[in-house]
Amino acid sequence: MKRYGVVVIGCGYMGALHLDAISRQERVRLIGVADWNRDRVSLVASQYGAECWGTDYRALIERDDVDLVIIATYPSSHLEIAKDCLAAGKHILCEKPMAGNERETQEFMKLARGAKTKVLIGHILRHNTTYQAVMKMIREGAIGFPLVIRLSQLKPSKNWASHLSLLRDVSPIVDCGVHYIDVMRWATGADVVSVNGIGQRLYEEVPPYTYNYGLMTLRLSDGSIGYFETGWGKGLPTDNRKEFIGPAGRIRIIYKNDRPLGVQHLGNLVEVEDYRKGTVRQINMDFSVKPTGAQLDYFLSMVENNLPAIPAMEDAYRAMEIALLADRAIHEGITLPCAK
Ligand SMILES: NC(=O)c1ccc[n+]([C@@H]2O[C@H](COP(=O)([O-])OP(=O)(O)OC[C@H]3O[C@@H](n4cnc5c(N)ncnc54)[C@H](O)[C@@H]3O)[C@@H](O)[C@H]2O)c1
Repeated sequence: MKRYGVVVIGCGYMGALHLDAISRQERVRLIGVADWNRDRVSLVASQYGAECWGTDYRALIERDDVDLVIIATYPSSHLEIAKDCLAAGKHILCEKPMAGNERETQEFMKLARGAKTKVLIGHILRHNTTYQAVMKMIREGAIGFPLVIRLSQLKPSKNWASHLSLLRDVSPIVDCGVHYIDVMRWATGADVVSVNGIGQRLYEEVPPYTYNYGLMTLRLSDGSIGYFETGWGKGLPTDNRKEFIGPAGRIRIIYKNDRPLGVQHLGNLVEVEDYRKGTVRQINMDFSVKPTGAQLDYFLSMVENNLPAIPAMEDAYRAMEIALLADRAIHEGITLPCAK
């Protein structure tokens, strides 16, 4: 059995989740870790048993025994790192959002289209069995069409410094919104035709050119509509609405951590209301941690069996394109068409 050599660049919140997944997957071997933050990277290297570590990733990715690189840095560094990794002949799993702005996103796509190695963008919900099951039910007509899609993800920042760093790169509508634009397109099989939104800069520390609370509304080509509300900040409440309403029913996902303490061990809850039958089903979906393991397994099968990315690069790109338009709509206070 070949063991793939892997390097992780960016060892913060997501980097650590990728490292956990690597430590559980016997077909990969952690070779190196890199992070600007020297204390952080040396700690992580000893925690996960990396053979080498450093503050500059370049020396690590040149090694012949490195096959895969996971990029979990801030969005504005994704393009440059991806470029270097692909030039060194490595397969890459890059965290979403693909890049920090429109120009970089287009360049990233050009690079990915011409790559001889595999490129996967970390749209983790595509590898989450709860979302996979719900999207299948919806696509098979469980609640009919068109849909009203109500999505929110607000959280009090546990690590405000990290959120501030992300905010300097992209707004939460772009950073987090790409996941949920992808979910809306996945649920309906339709494309987004227009976006609008509002944003608020709640605190002085938030850079003046951005906002830390945002809400976008979207119209889809099948007549469905949706909104996504998000925000980061010390004082924001936890709010996780994931609800799909159709003419024939309603499906809601309740995350494990939002369930009463006594039943959290049952995983996520999917509540399916069928108006035609007059029933409400409650389905427990096995869930423990963000599925970086399932995503890594898929990344390995892409490499071993020459499979396409999930989501396809074109879908990751489209989600990013719409998120950037939503961001512009928020700044300019106008509704923007999302022509392809
Ligand atoms: N898929 C998901 O569910 C999910 C969730 C959260 C964050 N993310 C994404 O993961 C990425 C990282 O976010 P995070 O929450 O882990 O942030 P974080 O602040 O916790 O960690 C980022 C780490 O990367 C390091 N870093 C940044 N730029 C670097 C560079 N150019 N070279 C070396 N090190 C660098 C920082 O020092 C930090 O330790 C972002 O793109 C974010 O959008 C994805």
